[in-house]
Amino acid sequence: MNAPPPHATIKAVVPAERRSKLTTLRYVLRNPLEGWPEEVYSAPMVRTRTMGHPTLFVMDPDLIREVMVEKADAFHKDPATKRALGPALGRGILTADGAHWRWQRRLASPVFRHENVQTFLPAIVAAAGRTHDEWADAEGRQIDVLHAMMRTTFDIIIQTMLAGAPDMDVDRVAESITAYLRTSGWAVAMALLRAPSWMPYPGRRRARRSGSYLRGALQQAITARRDSGASGSDLTGLLLAASDPETGQRMEDGDIVDNLLTFIAAGHETTSLTLSWSFYLLSRHPEVEAKVLAEIAAVAPQGVGPEHIERLVYTRQVVQEAMRLYPPASVLMRLAVADLTIGAEVVPAGTTVILPVFAIHHHEALWTDPYDFDPDRFGPEAVKARHRYAYIPFGAGPRICIGMGFALLEATAILATLIARYRLTPVRDTPPRPLLHVTLRPDGGMPMRIARRAARTR
Ligand code: HEM
Repeated sequence: MNAPPPHATIKAVVPAERRSKLTTLRYVLRNPLEGWPEEVYSAPMVRTRTMGHPTLFVMDPDLIREVMVEKADAFHKDPATKRALGPALGRGILTADGAHWRWQRRLASPVFRHENVQTFLPAIVAAAGRTHDEWADAEGRQIDVLHAMMRTTFDIIIQTMLAGAPDMDVDRVAESITAYLRTSGWAVAMALLRAPSWMPYPGRRRARRSGSYLRGALQQAITARRDSGASGSDLTGLLLAASDPETGQRMEDGDIVDNLLTFIAAGHETTSLTLSWSFYLLSRHPEVEAKVLAEIAAVAPQGVGPEHIERLVYTRQVVQEAMRLYPPASVLMRLAVADLTIGAEVVPAGTTVILPVFAIHHHEALWTDPYDFDPDRFGPEAVKARHRYAYIPFGAGPRICIGMGFALLEATAILATLIARYRLTPVRDTPPRPLLHVTLRPDGGMPMRIARRAARTR
């Protein structure tokens, strides 16, 4: 058995019921993960209050199904998330509710069908190849793997969703997204305090500037695309051509900007985090890394190409296990908009329901040795034997991640392309501390040293 990593000891120092509002705020701003009640790792459900607000943590898989699938209509996305993301993402597919969400989801779905996602594979493998080539001179150098993965996945999202968007300042767009997300803790804290939306907080001006820049850059890309008269089967082409089947209404430019930004933000950061944690875990588990290398050598002896990705089954299991230990979306939140019951519990409208994905994935009733890294948990038999809702890195029910298939393919392709050629070693002795700021980020990035493996062609 492996020694538990430091996040095994993450737990609230001050129990929720004895916390002042100031202590709660401190947790929200520093690392909400460390503010969850300790019982979320062992109990089916925990009822508590956050800043006086009724809050229900749900961990039991049957109850998760009730919230996310059977009674999904009784919930909306929670106001704190909307407040944090709304100024940039507007009422795009991730933050909208009701009919406005349903319409957008229907429109975007064809892009993410399995057959269409397969057509993205050459672009994905080519982008992984560019990072591979950039690393060629990096022997012995230290790099931030998280930064490198952000660039790679960003490149992919722009190629596949915006058909390249040739005039876009990609670096500035990527930096603006990071700058925007950095202040999310404050935006959530302001929502919990029920502060008016004009209330200033540290970083708010910079976040707003980043949000305006992003929206302007995308508006320009849309105008250029429309002027060019090109249609195209990427997401932008689809949204430009789309109309409501019932009313015939077209999407306004503002709606298209909302959605493109949503796909860029939701689609690249999460995948790059998955990859960073995967590289880290492989570096700490040479026996697993050896199995991955053996699989790649057997499936793709001449180098990884688009045709190999679906057959890299064990490599995909590594990605899935990395998302269990470090789920990029570590918390899902909903607001009950009707009175209902969950299990035997009466849940009045206005209750915040929290699915603490990180705790569900380490729950002592659901996993054996929950802190051990073991990709065999995702072999077909093990998956069949487990409750479907014990593992929810992509959410569940009607609002499950639309990009799930895309992300799994992309992460497997990038991991296989790079690990086959390079050995990465962490610079620090201790595992990075996971920090929950909308997504689960390694505190201080993921600095690792690169070495080339014995020569083989890509
Ligand atoms: C490893 C990578 C990814 C993870 C872990 C992830 C996780 C999630 C989760 C948990 C949700 C549900 C949120 C909720 O229920 O509140 C979600 C929704 C969503 N994701 Fe992903 N995602 C990933 C990659 C992607 C990619 C590649 C795209 C697009 C290219 C994407 C686009 C979206 C969109 C648009 C939604 C909103 C869906 C809706 O509300 O109908 N995601 N994602």
